[in-house]
Amino acid sequence: MLNFTFYTPTRVVFGKDTEGQVGDLAKAYGAHKVLLHYGGKSAERSGLLGRIRLALEMAGVDYVELGGVVPNPHLDKVYEGIELCKKEGVDFILAVGGGSVIDSSKAICYGLAEPDKDVWELFDKTRQAKCFFPLAVVLTIAAAGSEMSNSCVITDEKTLQKRGYNNDIARPLFAIMNPEITRTLPDYQTESGCADIMMHTMERYFNNGGSMELTDGLSESLIRTVMKNAEILHVDPDNYDARAEVMWASSLSHNGLTGCGTDGGDWACHRMEHELGGMFDVTHGAGLAAIWGSWARFVYRDCLPRFVQFAVNVMDVKPGSSDDETALAGIRAMEAFYRRIGMPTNIKELGVEPTDEQIEEMAAAVAVVCGDPFGSAKKLSKKDVAEIYRKAR
Ligand code: NZQ
Ligand code: ZN
Repeated sequence: MLNFTFYTPTRVVFGKDTEGQVGDLAKAYGAHKVLLHYGGKSAERSGLLGRIRLALEMAGVDYVELGGVVPNPHLDKVYEGIELCKKEGVDFILAVGGGSVIDSSKAICYGLAEPDKDVWELFDKTRQAKCFFPLAVVLTIAAAGSEMSNSCVITDEKTLQKRGYNNDIARPLFAIMNPEITRTLPDYQTESGCADIMMHTMERYFNNGGSMELTDGLSESLIRTVMKNAEILHVDPDNYDARAEVMWASSLSHNGLTGCGTDGGDWACHRMEHELGGMFDVTHGAGLAAIWGSWARFVYRDCLPRFVQFAVNVMDVKPGSSDDETALAGIRAMEAFYRRIGMPTNIKELGVEPTDEQIEEMAAAVAVVCGDPFGSAKKLSKKDVAEIYRKAR
């Protein structure tokens, strides 16, 4: 077991009708004028934005609005948000949405906190942020975990670079989570969200740098719980309890809890998906599912005890005649699960067909961002990454 720091300052307000508290909460955290930041039309159509406007008005908190955040959120919307907030004298950002809206909001917060600097420098890793701006969330999709995470992922739509920046100062002040709000999600988004939630724990679980019995137990239970409820939601999307289990799992899976005592995890699937997302604008969780099997088969021998433990404790595989056989049965079982919930198990099923040239380009970008080699389950070179992409086609 390795030493760790666990820092999770976000106040969570969870359950039915909790969005009604948003005005009083924002006021309690010092908001006078809020930027209400959201995505496409889903939050307007469901009536959620109307309820939030009303709650702000009742609390006497002024607001301006900026919608139009797209999945794999764009840098130009971030710049637009920063300029709007400066012009309007906004002192608080309220993200109403999922990972894309929250990350666009986080980037706006970085930009407002250090207004003389270009926010993209953070994603380019040419400087570190020194301060942040007040941020809170009303979550509408259980997936990215950005509502409690220290992470922010933005795409520069001009260069198609999708880049992340992690800093503990970016954890939101509070997050309102009403599972009922997620009922309007299309099944593909619900299930992509489940795949992403599981992967945030799996990325941490498959590592060669330290483990802890308690962390393993929490992780295995979290993955099993999400799998069970993902299958329930596939046939019964209105099931409140299943939505609640998945929503709470989304936050716990990416707030650091399932990495305590480890080396922080592997993260190769995420790094590789970010390149796919930047180049082809695919749905993040589905992109992870499409890559995972190829990655797992490439690395499992270098991380065999963890793959065996995963097969037995998570996938309910009976130990085979060798560890190799057990580990491979666990990988196959996970792919069968993805198919049952309508997730892709290769890049073609994801709906894109990268050329050899595009694969080399993505592998080169992974090497630039992560180093060569990188990873924990197995150290991957640029050549290895290209091979994993090719085998995932
Ligand atoms: O834009 P609207 O109309 O709201 O539609 C959205 C969007 O099309 C829709 N949606 C959201 N809530 C809904 C709804 N539709 C109906 N009813 C609702 N209640 O769902 C679509 C996807 O939304 P998005 O915010 O993109 O989903 P998600 O939460 O999966 O976020 C994905 C983004 O987060 C990044 C991903 O890379 C991707 O850019 N990630 C962020 C992380 C973080 N900051 O910690 C970690 C993750 O690993 C991930 O990389
Ligand atoms: Zn993710």
